[in-house]
Amino acid sequence: MSAVFQEWLNIVIRWAHVLAAIMWVGDSFLFMWLDSHLTNPSRKREGDVVGELWMTHSGGFYEMVKRKTLAKDELPPTIHWFKWESYSTWISGFLLLIVVYYAGGRAMLVEATSTLSHAEAVGISLSCLVGAVAFYDLLCRTPIIKRNRIFGVVGLALIVTVAWGLLQIFSPRAVFLQVGAMLGTIMASNVFFRIIPSQRHMLSATSAGEPVDPSYGYRAKQRSVHNHYLTLPVLFTMLSNHFSTLYSHAQAWAVLGLVFIAGVGVKYFMNFRRRTHPIILVGTVLACSAVAALTLPSSSTTTTSAAGDRVAWGAVKLILETRCTGCHAKKPTNPGFAAPPVGLTFEDPRDVYAVKDRILVRAVQTKTMPLGNLTGMTEDERVLLGRWIAQGALIPGASP
Ligand code: HEC
Repeated sequence: MSAVFQEWLNIVIRWAHVLAAIMWVGDSFLFMWLDSHLTNPSRKREGDVVGELWMTHSGGFYEMVKRKTLAKDELPPTIHWFKWESYSTWISGFLLLIVVYYAGGRAMLVEATSTLSHAEAVGISLSCLVGAVAFYDLLCRTPIIKRNRIFGVVGLALIVTVAWGLLQIFSPRAVFLQVGAMLGTIMASNVFFRIIPSQRHMLSATSAGEPVDPSYGYRAKQRSVHNHYLTLPVLFTMLSNHFSTLYSHAQAWAVLGLVFIAGVGVKYFMNFRRRTHPIILVGTVLACSAVAALTLPSSSTTTTSAAGDRVAWGAVKLILETRCTGCHAKKPTNPGFAAPPVGLTFEDPRDVYAVKDRILVRAVQTKTMPLGNLTGMTEDERVLLGRWIAQGALIPGASP
């Protein structure tokens, strides 16, 4: 696939994916919000009423009544379903995974030193998506499904274990996304295999005039609650490749687990506000603080020090030319890039100087550049680059 064509696909699919996800998450948030704001009916209403709610939006008033069941003759001619938001999010997400990670070259998935071939890495990634759905479904058939908190703790332990395992195989940048893709697939499968079929069953029982088995509605609700609490953590994993400090941490699995705790905690607070259990609030704050503490650059591990001989620009230029400008050039020679990634070129010393702090983070501290260490940058080169930056990143023409 030509790099330009790939970039077009990337733009179109990513756009669609973000839009679909906004709609899916929006539905999930709205319906959770509706459920938590229902009040007892203010006047007599017919049927099996759970609660009612008034809203105002876009120049009008909306009256909403939630009913658990409908009688056969009450079925409206049109009933709105919310499923394509989820299906289109998954389909566009899967296509994006193919375009960016599977067709994007081996360096997107594994480090250059890995023994896995590109095809093997793609195979593992795909099997993990299927395996995640199967395993989650098994877990939902165990008695812990009835105990939300225990289910949450077991789920978190599994996610962290899977992340740890994947970190042994994939590059850390790919691991966070892979975990997110697995959870996103579980969420979409919940809608496809559980929630929508349950609703369909309830509807067909109603139109046949038969009593509706409430266990269907109950199970669908359980899955939709799981989906709901996964939204913030999964959104984090989808955005995580912007945050190299988090995914490249030596204990990235722990960082991921803590971010998940915080994400679920924040969602819980959004749902229950002042009724939130204090333990949830404390846990969320502790998890956020722990992530901050873990990812603080520690003086003992950092390889940046100004001490030693002054590093000349010539030495840095050589490193950049051998390790970076295959991608970071106006016309990249790496066939995977039609244009310099994120617009960064390192051919002019002033461009290098302008982003020296990010170079320090990516190529020296977190070692997340070069991508998958495709160009085989050595530890000595990283130390040298770090020293040059610590000494003030002198470039030709600048006074020391
Ligand atoms: C194989 C191609 C490739 C090579 C080689 C490469 N990069 Fe990158 N670089 C990328 C891609 C793709 C991105 C955008 C994705 C990302 O940020 O992970 C990027 C982004 C960056 C960013 C900006 C991201 C930020 O966090 O602000 C910096 C800085 C960077 N690279 C520095 C370097 C340095 C320094 C080298 C050489 C030591 C290098 N890169 C080698 C592909 C490459």
